[in-house]
Amino acid sequence: AQAASPSFMEMKFINISHRGASGHAPEHTFTSYELGKAMNGDYIEIDLQMTEDGELIALHDETIDRTTGKKGLVKDLTREEIKQLDAGSWFNEAFPEKANPEYKGLQIPTLREVFDQFGNDSKFFIETKSPDVYPEMEEKLINLLYEYNLIGGVNDSGNVIIQSFSAESLRKIHAMEESIPLIQLLSYYAPASMTDSEIEKLKEYAVGVGMHFTAANPAYVKKVKDSGLLILPYTVNEKEDMEMLLDWGVNGMFTNYPDRLDEVIRKR
Ligand code: G3P
Ligand code: CA
Repeated sequence: AQAASPSFMEMKFINISHRGASGHAPEHTFTSYELGKAMNGDYIEIDLQMTEDGELIALHDETIDRTTGKKGLVKDLTREEIKQLDAGSWFNEAFPEKANPEYKGLQIPTLREVFDQFGNDSKFFIETKSPDVYPEMEEKLINLLYEYNLIGGVNDSGNVIIQSFSAESLRKIHAMEESIPLIQLLSYYAPASMTDSEIEKLKEYAVGVGMHFTAANPAYVKKVKDSGLLILPYTVNEKEDMEMLLDWGVNGMFTNYPDRLDEVIRKR
């Protein structure tokens, strides 16, 4: 039997494999997800898009352009068309020093395939991307999580976390399934700050916030943490930045290099 893992809120520190170990292998492929786990990432981060025929897929962009060598909007393509694409070769071309012939032909996974492959012994940090573009994305996600027994059971204390830049999407999910921990992603164009009334609003549905790590500062981290919210900056790839944020007391980080973050944490 599998050892019981601590629930999300009890975890000392959270190492989130951003799009899998995407600094080492093509993002959002089984390979990068597997590597993320092997490198001691606690959660696999998954960005969600939805196909024309309503299939949730793991892809960061609204288009297939950057990572497949073809062009088009995901919302105009069927599941079948998405599954024909090569989501690995771009990485070999963009990062020849990290290239591996095995990456050629890697597929874009559907969320269902991710759960089939990793569902039993993995934790997922799922982002609803562009929810305004995809009708009923949230309902489909919740239904799939139920189908795979990833929520609603005795074992669900934070095995699935949902994040979004869209407060509307998170509020919708909170209304459907109160038990799922939610992380509000925030965009800052200046040093981050948060008022007491913003904190109160966030706490109506979220357990924490995420923001680009360069926007964070010690006073902000303290204010967020003192309010009882978790703080999880993204996307932190250099060890010096990891050390700095750990000193400030963040609760976890998104990283393309979960191996580096693991090394930093273990040395402390
Ligand atoms: O989800 C945290 C971080 O991934 C948000 O930025 O653009 O990489 O999804 P992005
Ligand atoms: Ca993301």
